[in-house]
Parts: sequence; C-alpha cells; structure tokens
Amino acid sequence: MTTRLFEDTDLASHSSGHKGPPNLMNDLSYTDWMKFQKSFFRYQSSTQLARECIEFFTKARWPDGSPSSTLVVGWDYCGQDSPRIIDSYPVIYSMAQLIKTLETLKEAGRKYDFILIDLRNLISNVGTLETFLRTHADVLFSLLRLLLRQDKYCGLALGTDNEGSSFPLPWAVADFGRSYLRLCDEKIGLLEPNNLFYLGFLRNKTDERPPIPISPAELHLSAGNATIPAWTVPKPPPRKKNEMLHPAKFPETLITSFIERFTNPGDRVFDPMVGTGTTVVAAIRSKRQGYGVELSPEFVQIAQNRLLAETCPRLFSESVAPLTTLVVRGDATGLEEIAELRNVTFDYIVTSPPYWSMLSNPGSEGQRARKLKNLPLVYSQNDRDLGNVRDYDRFLQILTEIYNGLSAKLVNDGILTVVVKNIKRNHIVYSLAWDLTARLCGPSGNYEFVGNTFWCQDDVGIKPFAVGIHWVSNTLHQYCLHYKKRPRP
Ligand SMILES: C[S@@+](CC[C@H](N)C(=O)[O-])C[C@H]1O[C@@H](n2cnc3c(N)ncnc32)[C@H](O)[C@@H]1O
Repeated sequence: MTTRLFEDTDLASHSSGHKGPPNLMNDLSYTDWMKFQKSFFRYQSSTQLARECIEFFTKARWPDGSPSSTLVVGWDYCGQDSPRIIDSYPVIYSMAQLIKTLETLKEAGRKYDFILIDLRNLISNVGTLETFLRTHADVLFSLLRLLLRQDKYCGLALGTDNEGSSFPLPWAVADFGRSYLRLCDEKIGLLEPNNLFYLGFLRNKTDERPPIPISPAELHLSAGNATIPAWTVPKPPPRKKNEMLHPAKFPETLITSFIERFTNPGDRVFDPMVGTGTTVVAAIRSKRQGYGVELSPEFVQIAQNRLLAETCPRLFSESVAPLTTLVVRGDATGLEEIAELRNVTFDYIVTSPPYWSMLSNPGSEGQRARKLKNLPLVYSQNDRDLGNVRDYDRFLQILTEIYNGLSAKLVNDGILTVVVKNIKRNHIVYSLAWDLTARLCGPSGNYEFVGNTFWCQDDVGIKPFAVGIHWVSNTLHQYCLHYKKRPRP
C-alpha cells in the first residue's frame, strides 16, 4: 500500500492558499478524506470497506515511527498492509468465541489504534440482541475499552432484524456502548435493492450524554412493515429563490412517495410545521387534501404562494371538484386553538421539526454557505419556535408532547412520519431519531414503530469538518420514522 501525504494543493483549494495544519489522523489526501466524510455509501465489498476504514482511522506509521495496529474481526480482510500491523479474524461463529478472542488479545497485552468488528451475524434478531444485552454486552464493551488506545476509534457493523421485525438492533447496541465508550458517529451502508447496515463509531473516551436505552421488551412494534423502503436517494430539482429563504426544506418527491404509500386519493394529509408548504404541495400533486400549520408568518406567505401556483392551473384543467388545501399560521403546541382544524381528522401526518437548536450552531452543516449568500440562518426569533429551545431534553419533551397529542387527530391505524436526524454538537451525539422513537413507541407513547426509511441526500456538497484532526461526518442521511397510531384500550 502506498502512503500518501496530506495534499497541500488540495487543502489550499479550501483554505485560500493557506497551508493547512498537519494531518494527525491518517495519511489521506484532502480529497480522499472528504470522500469518507459522507455519512452514507453504496456498499461494494467488505474488503474495500475495511481498507477505507483502516486508512481513515490510522496512519501507516505514527510520528514516533511506530507502526499503527488494527484489529479486524468478522470481515473478509487479510492483513497484508505493511508497515501497518493488522490482526485479522475473518470468521467468528458466536459471541462467546468473539469474547474469548478479545480476552486472549487482552491477556497478550495487545493495544489497537483502530478496531473494526462485524456483529451482523452475531446479533441478527431480537432474540440474539436480548441475549447479547443480558449476557455479553458489558464484557464486550469493557474489553473494547481495554484493547483500544486512549481516544482511538472502533467501528461496529450492525444490520436489521433478519426475521423481519422493525426493531432497530443497531440503536440498542450503540446506545448500550455509550456507557463504556463515546458514541461519535454513524455511516449507513446501502445494500441494493432495499436493505442496509449501520457502521457505528465509538471512541475510547467518556460519553457525556447518558444513553436512553431502547429495549425490545418496551418498544411497541407494528407488524407487517415489509412494504417500507429501507432507503431512498431522491434527486430533487434545485430549490427556487423563495424556497431558499427557508433553511431546511424537504423535497416534494420524497413526501409524495410517502403520501402515495400511506393514503388514497382524496384523503386528508397534515403537517403541523409545514415551513414552505412542501407537504401540502405534495398532497395536491397526489390528489389528496393538504393541511398545514406554520409558526413563522414569512414561511406561511411562501407556502400560500406556492399553493396558489400549484392549484390555480389545476382549477382550469381538471374536471374534478377542487380539493381542500390550507396553510394557516399557528403554533403546533396549541393546535386545538386553530379554528380551521377543529373537528378535522387526518389520514396521514408527515412532518419535520426544527432539529433542536442546530441552526444556531455556528459550525452546523450548510450555515457558513448560507451566511455567505445572506440567507436567513434560523427559522425565527420567536420564543415558541422549537428551534430556539436551548435544552435538548426540554426540546425532546415538547416534541414528544406535540406528536403524542397529534394521535388524537389521526384516524385509527393512521401513520405519522417524522423526518429528523441525529445531531452532533460539541463532540456529543444527540440521537434525536432514536430518543424520539423510544418515547413515542415506549410504554407511555401513543404509537407503534413501523420502521424507518433513510432519506440519503446526494445533492448536498461535502464540508470539511475537523479535517486532519478527528472524525466528524457530514450527516447526509435523515431518518424518516414511520409510526402507527396505537389502539387504546
Ligand atoms: C424543518 S422545518 C420544516 C420544513 C418543511 N418540511 C418544508 O419542506 O419547508 C421546521 C419548521 O417548523 C417551524 N416551527 C418551529 N416551531 C414551531 C411551532 N411551535 N409551531 C409551528 N411551526 C413551528 C419552523 O418555522 C420551520 O419552518
């Protein structure tokens, strides 16, 4: 393998001719580093993936001249990467065998700069997950902590339940691991045609966020999720000028595909935080009735203009009775006060909240570029705007109350889809998608978990976060979490 230098010429292109800091993490060029920053990838081969991870998380030799050392378990990867030292155990049959292997390495005094383990065959359904959490999880994570050098990373591959339940195995394992290591990031491997796996990355450091464990015994699951796509990579047209004024719009095609999956023509679709009106536009295009509520008067105006542009031509060209479409100004925490919605129930609700106060985070994705273009960075200065709630747990609580309350407006068996992403701030992962699901589908929640579709954004530029220093991906996969209203006794 050739050892490459961190390319100053590439670095110069993003730092105005300025030579960047030395690359402390690996030997990659700026371009190769940036490729790895993307948080989802189309899986090609286990060997290639292992090589990319090893090359990202280690140098061939550290500055003191010592070779880096890596442990690879359960991957089809032979360790011939001199001068790197790579201990490779391609086939592991059971969790007990994995633990024994790690114990032997610990007793031999081995220490690693990177560890990569494929757990997909060992934790493959709810039964094996429960045994793992009960019997092996504490031992596995404490061994990983002992084998990893301080601050170094390990990657764990985890898949979906191969018995077809929608229980999110990777979330449970990664969350458990936070008691021993710091949860840093995740990458999503897309498997054609409709499957995927997670690569969860943990670091040998303390995690400052307590885990919110998701347990199979407590999460209400909905049967029959076979028709939900595991991932989608839409190709939306560029946003129009007025839509650019909104910092975070989702594409119509994504929402249309959900509306068509979960409703019939003429049904009522609702979004309680409709922003630029995308849900209502998608409803109109799918011949459904669309209702939206939005706090900011500016976005209400944009949404209403979009509705007019969408409905006027149809009034003249279509012989069917016009469908109801409505966007009103209001607060999602007080929907009962909105006269237009009184006594209206919905067949489907699809929505995306502010991602906590992420937009006011100066380093957040896209913010620098928006600032340069003089575009608004936050939704509003309104105290009732959820994007202005500073405390994460308070934000989570308000969101949970809104969504639990919405179940009263959903028809029986109706679906609520929430589009969110996990958030990284100050080196802490706030797993919003997982935390919300644990609350909405846990013992006191009003929903069953149907499953998740990853919306993978291939139309967003990659930004150079922490290049040369540590691993901060560009989160370009968003969770579209589908929940079904739970029947109440
Ligand atoms: C992620 S954006 C939704 C974008 C929308 N899906 C679109 O495509 O344009 C979240 C929206 O929630 C709105 N919002 C924040 N707090 C709200 C509240 N309490 N009630 C209603 N809307 C709120 C924000 O103004 C913002 O437009």
